[in-house]
Amino acid sequence: MTQLDFIHEYVPSSSGTDAYTLVLLHGTGGNEQDLIPLGRFLADDAALLGVRGKVLEGGMPRFFRRLAEGVFDQEDLLFRTDELADFLRAASETYGIHPGKRIAVGYSNGANIAASILLRHPDIFAGALLFRPMVPFEPTDATGTQPLRDKPVLLSAGEVDPLIPQAETNRLAELLKVQGAAVELHFNPGGHGLMQPELQVAKAWYEQNFGR
Ligand code: MLT
Repeated sequence: MTQLDFIHEYVPSSSGTDAYTLVLLHGTGGNEQDLIPLGRFLADDAALLGVRGKVLEGGMPRFFRRLAEGVFDQEDLLFRTDELADFLRAASETYGIHPGKRIAVGYSNGANIAASILLRHPDIFAGALLFRPMVPFEPTDATGTQPLRDKPVLLSAGEVDPLIPQAETNRLAELLKVQGAAVELHFNPGGHGLMQPELQVAKAWYEQNFGR
């Protein structure tokens, strides 16, 4: 069995093992604690699993290497994607997380590895909230089997994000739709940093798709 070899923080749900688990994936320089308050804001009864990326860039944790801003080391990305998917399967066994009830919540670099997992391991997440995501890689498989069929995915982007052009977000939305995902795209007037109004949008989206 795979070791639980990512630094992580697991917070069980107060409403038992039937609850959803939010898998919290930080941005560059963050850690497993960063998105715990956001997860709690989005879903007060969910279990939370914060994970710390293993790659260090000048001492800052990330989920995979990059060659330059927005230019990803594709070999490392695919290796790290598989490694994180294995960890999530193992952590689910250890903590009794329902494999059909894991939801990704990622910001920036964490949103990018979550998008990569969606495209490469479509069984891992039941849905995803991706804040400031990019296209992680261009999938070559166009079998038309739609492995993400009807899975809800929210992409939350900034209209004036200096790192991510709107076309990039639109392209990711298209790629996920080709795989069958039920994508909702939200552009807010901000840049790369998260803004309060979009968090309200994300909370309402979560309640609509996963609320009890
Ligand atoms: C970041 O700073 O995290 C980038 O914008 C996204 C990435 O490198 O994955």
